[in-house]
Amino acid sequence: MNLGVLAHVGPGTPTGEWFRRYWLVVGTTRDLHDIPQAIKVLGEELVFFRDPKGQLGLLGLHCPHRSSSLEYGDIEDRGIRCPYHGWLFDVSGQCLEQPAEPKGSVFHQKVRHLSYPVKELGGLIFAYMGPDRDDPPPLPKYSPLVNHEGQRSIEQTRYYDYNWFNYIENGADPVHFSILHRSNPNDGTWRSWFFNFHDIPYFDAVETPYGMKVISRKPGPTPDTEYIDEKSFAFPSILQIGDTEFTHFKKPASALMNGSHNEHFMFLTPDDDEHFTLFTVNYYTGPDPDFFEKLAPSRQLTTKEEKKEYDRRRYAPFRGSVRLEDMMTQGTQGLIGEREEHLATSDRGVILLRKIILNAIETVQRGGRPKGVLTQDQAEKVLKIDSFTGIRNRKE
Ligand code: FES
Ligand SMILES: [Fe+2]
Repeated sequence: MNLGVLAHVGPGTPTGEWFRRYWLVVGTTRDLHDIPQAIKVLGEELVFFRDPKGQLGLLGLHCPHRSSSLEYGDIEDRGIRCPYHGWLFDVSGQCLEQPAEPKGSVFHQKVRHLSYPVKELGGLIFAYMGPDRDDPPPLPKYSPLVNHEGQRSIEQTRYYDYNWFNYIENGADPVHFSILHRSNPNDGTWRSWFFNFHDIPYFDAVETPYGMKVISRKPGPTPDTEYIDEKSFAFPSILQIGDTEFTHFKKPASALMNGSHNEHFMFLTPDDDEHFTLFTVNYYTGPDPDFFEKLAPSRQLTTKEEKKEYDRRRYAPFRGSVRLEDMMTQGTQGLIGEREEHLATSDRGVILLRKIILNAIETVQRGGRPKGVLTQDQAEKVLKIDSFTGIRNRKE
């Protein structure tokens, strides 16, 4: 299959149909208030609301009558009412009332608006937009969303204006941590001394039951040990970067001896081919009760440099903020399949990622269950996405 299919997520496209087999994050509990929210997911315009009974509704944005936006609808006990002619819809999309039709009219019974199943887990709201809407696959029990012994924080939702795949692919490309995110070996943007320009760790890319991971290695403090950093991709579009403690805090190299206590999950949902939204969950099991307060300032998009008055480059300055550094590189790549590339040995993670996603897309095209869509049995277990930073015994 042509790589270019990966960029396109609209209805009927191979990648769009594949994405529609999974539950995707469409919002957070914290940000859903008492007014409807318009969102775009996989190229579809939708409206999202919670009725007073607490039920969540995700419906087509445009009213099926004459297409005004339900983003301005009134939320009522039984659902959402279009402000134009007052058609009322429940969370399943069923039209319940049409006030301007004659008394006794049953026309409303024939109108069922587009609606998708929605579920809430651990502060995130997931939707299933696939063909089995009456009997969707189970929502995976992602460990940071169901475990309670640690502390969980959901960061501010982030919005990007380039193609989803550029972001996802970057997670399978660990050498960029040592290069893009460095400034010098002792004080890079990525503050972990593990990733530095002068001593780039070797990495392996391996497929896992949930997706894949890249495992970077350096010799450990004793001959039978090694320093390890693992970063994961989980189907369909989740990245897990576990070493946030080292990335954002100045810590001595010796801190790596104890490993990281924070898991950093990014749930990516494509809005369309040019935009995506990122929902970030941190799950911390270390001893610091104020960990997230200390982490918060590092999330700002500030760099060390001032913009020069003659600098017209959109993403400049970017050095000094991991997020801006990523946005600059990923936002300038253009679409996969349309850009020219010369892949090198250091792209082995990217190559594996493309292969496993294309395989999953082909599985959907053949009518099968793609990797990452769980059976009921598989979904009983908590889903753990690997991430490890620290010391391990060397495996022969
Ligand atoms: S456009 Fe919505 S009720 Fe007429
Ligand atoms: Fe990065």
